[in-house]
Amino acid sequence: MDKIIINGPCKLSGSVTISKAKNAYLPILAGVLLSNKKITLNEVPNLRDINTMLKLLGNLGVGVKRDGKTIELEPALLNSHEATYDLVKTMRASIFTLGPILTRLHKAKVSLPGGCAIGTRPIDLHLSNLEKMGAKITLEGGYVYAETDGPLQGAHLVLAFPSVGATENLMMAASLAEGQTVIENAALEPEIDDLANFLNAMGGKVSGIGTNRLVIDGVKEFKEVEYTAIGDRIEAATYIMAALATKSSVRVDGFNPKHLDFVINLLKNMGANIEVGADFVQVEPSTLSLAKVDTAPFPGFPTDVQAQMMALVTQVEGSSIITEHIFENRFMHVPELIRLGAKIELKGNTAVIEGGLKLIGAPVMCTDLRASAALIIAALTSHGETEISRVYHLDRGYENLDQKFKKLGANIQRVSEES
Ligand code: UD1
Repeated sequence: MDKIIINGPCKLSGSVTISKAKNAYLPILAGVLLSNKKITLNEVPNLRDINTMLKLLGNLGVGVKRDGKTIELEPALLNSHEATYDLVKTMRASIFTLGPILTRLHKAKVSLPGGCAIGTRPIDLHLSNLEKMGAKITLEGGYVYAETDGPLQGAHLVLAFPSVGATENLMMAASLAEGQTVIENAALEPEIDDLANFLNAMGGKVSGIGTNRLVIDGVKEFKEVEYTAIGDRIEAATYIMAALATKSSVRVDGFNPKHLDFVINLLKNMGANIEVGADFVQVEPSTLSLAKVDTAPFPGFPTDVQAQMMALVTQVEGSSIITEHIFENRFMHVPELIRLGAKIELKGNTAVIEGGLKLIGAPVMCTDLRASAALIIAALTSHGETEISRVYHLDRGYENLDQKFKKLGANIQRVSEES
């Protein structure tokens, strides 16, 4: 197990290039299962979650050829309908394979993902809506068994909540279904648009992209495609917050700032000096005022940036308030931030952060992906050495994080830890 050691406080400068979005590539990789033609994906980040998904595709029979960041997939070789527990338990996004396997093979056996650190995360919306499309679903022995007599049938689906994963799973299932499917109250996250664009690039028929009413006309087969996903808005937000927390001048490059409109406007209202370009932002040292943040589905403030925002406001004078509305247990960074000297009070799903205090380096532990990013930001502002253990959580979603921060001038190193 590796750990990261940061000696702070650090000043950052220069530019950082954002990788392509993990949360776009995970559903796209599941979408590969719909086709029987060659698919080439470019600039795929080297991340633990991506590698898990590739392993899962390989186990299902899909040919996977990796040449640096380019991945060639041969889904015609699909020969199994079973996503097993050993892989699914390490990554919830494996559930994205359910819709594609079912619609392509008319049967699927996918392990129930179970809870995770940030909450119970049920999949009821995925299952009940697949049933509306004609799937017979049973749960047994920790697995979802789904089957259909012939193709899935297009249906009119209304999501009780705009779940990102359910929208993606159903959009993929509908793409090979018979007839038209309408998904109302669909999630609006940019990664959904990217999945729809990928499906359309290989001959799918998804319309209503960018709205909460998606219309999908099923097709019989797909064609060869080469595709590159969007830049990772969550990674970009993490570097923006790191720059602001350390009062640094940093250019964050290679993503669409429109995907972070809400976050950037909120930061600007707090006093952040951020210049917005077409595919970059330039952050300048700024004196911020306190914040009141409520997480919400897109286009609101992303839950995936909540922890990093909390690390940032530990550096801002006054009492900031952050309320988490999406996941029930997403404050695991709080006790770790407190170890660094932050003053944070939790009341249910609301955290009150008394900012502007000096943080002092300490040993801390990663608990989940975005909580870990918050610890990196806090450590960059802390005085002295912070040792961050269990960095495998970071490796799930941040490509070359230590190298990217080192290039920005941070005093950061990654060392192998005896296990
Ligand atoms: C995706 C993202 C994750 C992000 C989240 C919210 C990926 C791989 N993951 O996760 O990083 O934090 O969106 O932006 O893209 N829910 C149900 N029943 C369901 C499905 C969801 O009750 O069937 C609830 C969840 O428990 C949660 C909320 O809906 O409280 C949002 O979940 P969802 O949008 O589905 O998130 P994921 O797709 O799991």
